[in-house]
Amino acid sequence: MLMLVFPDYQPQAERLAARLAMPTANVHLHHFPDGESLVRLPSSLPEHVLICRSLNQPNNKLIELLFCARTARELGAKRLTLIAPYLSYMRQDIANQPGEAVSQRIMGQMLAELFDDVITVDPHLHRITSLDQAIPISNAISLTAADDIAEFLKQKLDHALLLGPDGESEQWVSAIANKIGFDFAVASKIRRGDTQVEMRLPDFDFSHQPVVIIDDMASTGRTLSKATDLLLAAGAKKIDAVITHPLFCGDAEAHILQSGIKNIWSTDSISHPTACIYLDKLLAKAVREILPV
Ligand code: R5P
Repeated sequence: MLMLVFPDYQPQAERLAARLAMPTANVHLHHFPDGESLVRLPSSLPEHVLICRSLNQPNNKLIELLFCARTARELGAKRLTLIAPYLSYMRQDIANQPGEAVSQRIMGQMLAELFDDVITVDPHLHRITSLDQAIPISNAISLTAADDIAEFLKQKLDHALLLGPDGESEQWVSAIANKIGFDFAVASKIRRGDTQVEMRLPDFDFSHQPVVIIDDMASTGRTLSKATDLLLAAGAKKIDAVITHPLFCGDAEAHILQSGIKNIWSTDSISHPTACIYLDKLLAKAVREILPV
């Protein structure tokens, strides 16, 4: 077995490989002036190859993943496992307007054709309940970072109220809160556009409470900053946040910091300065479970 590592996910992949006592090799990338990518792998490969790369900022990464997977097969890999803790294009599961590409289905089909196993963490699924409905293979494995986040919070804080900023976050915030015996509440949110978010806090006394906002991802940061504004206006004592996937696009960080949030902690699903909750233990357990006994 061999783990192939893309440079943007190298530290995380090395931690995972160390846990699994598995050798690694780098995927060498060259970007030509016209934007094309050259992908180079070791010249021969074992039967089972794991490919590690999170798929944030996905468009270039996906074509490189396609080249990598097809080349790995040509070089001898019989079984290919993708470890992509952040999986993009999972949100668009219907055509909201006639003519729109249903990206989840197309992406899922492509990954199913390339890989024997796909392992990811807390994918953002709307209307489907299991990952294999999006990626039609038997080993489409969706893990959750809830236990690792709960453990982290328990060590960091004596108590806090956990707030999910929208209905979709209830699954994560409730799992984390129940695990460590913290209270939780869920706000309601309407997104009017990429950077326009309306939110209403639940009926709850936030005054003098330390609050931790829990969300699966921060993209433009508008959800976090809106929740922080409302919580501070409601008298909350201190606002922190835990994010599973720290996408932080464009001016997101500046925007969030302006809002008065104290700490942002995230998992290392994506390389980012806030990443301090490591997923290698969770991922290693999942890899061990799919290996032949
Ligand atoms: C939405 O349903 C997600 O759970 C996140 O709340 C959302 O993607 C965050 O996006 P943004 O940072 O752009 O507000």
